Amino acid sequence: MIKNKTWFWLMAICVFPLGVAGCMTMSGSGAVIVPAPKIAGAEFVGMDTCAACHEKISKDFARTTHSRIVVSGDMDVKEQGCEACHGAGSLHVNAQTNEEKAKTIVNPGKAPEACYQCHLKQKAEFGLQYHHPLPEGKMTCTDCHDPHSPEGVRPGSLTSLGGIDRACAKCHKDQAGPFVYEHEAVREGCTVCHNVHGSINEKMLKQRDAHLCLRCHYQSTYPSIGDTSHSSRIFPGPCWSGGCHTAPHGSNYNEHERL
Ligand code: HEC
Ligand code: HEC
Ligand code: HEC
Ligand code: HEC
Ligand code: HEC
Ligand code: HEC
Ligand code: HEC
Repeated sequence: MIKNKTWFWLMAICVFPLGVAGCMTMSGSGAVIVPAPKIAGAEFVGMDTCAACHEKISKDFARTTHSRIVVSGDMDVKEQGCEACHGAGSLHVNAQTNEEKAKTIVNPGKAPEACYQCHLKQKAEFGLQYHHPLPEGKMTCTDCHDPHSPEGVRPGSLTSLGGIDRACAKCHKDQAGPFVYEHEAVREGCTVCHNVHGSINEKMLKQRDAHLCLRCHYQSTYPSIGDTSHSSRIFPGPCWSGGCHTAPHGSNYNEHERL
């Protein structure tokens, strides 16, 4: 049975532009919506209760995608928001010591399971052969996503693509530049060429061959690319191999993206 309040939220989500993905999600594509992580003996208290002690986080969170999603059709409004990821909070709220507080709440920063319960697609992506070493326990979702910040849940989602690249540059300084000869593609974001959760292609590339580059460099005069005929060059390997454009991120030495 669906409660009235839930319908209110469904409507709110459907008319709110950012919530469109949420609506599709609930009709079967993308994330699968399931209940929050279980904490034995605890009950849901709702976001307002959390806000009493976690004021800053709660304020930021109010502007995120996650603050607008509905957890499942027959669930109370209380169960969405903070507790969808952290589990029911009553024991935590009433706990007397910090130690006890830490034990009575789920912290998904330490393990991705709390995220996977809804994000099965990303779980599958991390299962592909080439992936960030998150399943190996060397990283977590929060290395790239800030769960409480409207700009951080998806790096750059509400601001600019620069947000994504900054998130990558923390760990991959070599690829982030600056370079004397920039490759303009990188300005559109690292995700133009990489599927960063995981991919079937080496280096998490979106495509394993020249098609990665030809999405932007195809010309009607093909196999001429730029001013250069590539008719004898395109077949031996991908564009970035064999001494050709070996610096796809930009180069300090050569304007044609070579090392
Ligand atoms: C009465 C005040 C109070 C309320 C209400 C409260 N918290 Fe907390 N919470 C704390 C304190 C104090 C800590 C710090 C514990 C520490 O430093 O180890 C904390 C820590 C946390 C942590 C970090 C746990 C860890 O160590 O990994 C999370 C997550 C958390 N709270 C979530 C919530 C959520 C979700 C709610 C609402 C359901 C909530 N809190 C309500 C006081 C509160
Ligand atoms: C999308 C899932 C998600 C939701 C929803 C969520 N959190 Fe968190 N929360 C996390 C993750 C992940 C971490 C660990 C952050 C890290 O390790 O950097 C965290 C950490 C925390 C902490 C520990 C302090 C910190 O910043 O590391 C507190 C306190 C907290 N959350 C409170 C809240 C409150 C209050 C709400 C609702 C207003 C909320 N969270 C909603 C995922 C979530
Ligand atoms: C209760 C279900 C639920 C949980 C738990 C959950 N998410 Fe989400 N999340 C959603 C839905 C629904 C959307 C909107 C549709 C989509 O983009 O898949 C979303 C969107 C996102 C987005 C894109 C948001 C944007 O602003 O574009 C990111 C990134 C994300 N979640 C990461 C996380 C991480 C990291 C965790 C764990 C800390 C987590 N989620 C836990 C349901 C959930
Ligand atoms: C290495 C950095 C990184 C890690 C680790 C990471 N993400 Fe992402 N995630 C991104 C980027 C970048 C995007 C934007 C992708 C795009 O725009 O093509 C994204 C997008 C998303 C989205 C929006 C839908 C989509 O796939 O585009 C969701 C949901 C999401 N991530 C969930 C997660 C969850 C859950 C985890 C942990 C299990 C996680 N991510 C770990 C970088 C990361
Ligand atoms: C917290 C650090 C961290 C962040 C942030 C991060 N990565 Fe990574 N990345 C790693 C680690 C660790 C590896 C695995 C390296 C290895 O296995 O040698 C990796 C591997 C990669 C690889 C494959 C490298 C190879 O040699 O196979 C690519 C491509 C990559 N990351 C791109 C990105 C992009 C794009 C982003 C931003 C969305 C990003 N990374 C964010 C730590 C990070
Ligand atoms: C135009 C496409 C493109 C863009 C945009 C791009 N990459 Fe790459 N990236 C590649 C290719 C191609 C390789 C494989 C190079 C090789 O195997 O020699 C690669 C490899 C990597 C590697 C593995 C190390 C290496 O050089 O082999 C990392 C790490 C990486 N990229 C990170 C990033 C980051 C971070 C960004 C954003 C700042 C980014 N990439 C943007 C195409 C791109
Ligand atoms: C997102 C679109 C995009 C993608 C994908 C892309 N590029 Fe580019 N590339 C550009 C733009 C824009 C320029 C600058 C304009 C120009 O010179 O065509 C550029 C410039 C270049 C140049 C310098 C131009 C010259 O005359 O030598 C080379 C070389 C190059 N790209 C190679 C590659 C290779 C190799 C790949 C695949 C790994 C690739 N590009 C993928 C958009 C892209």
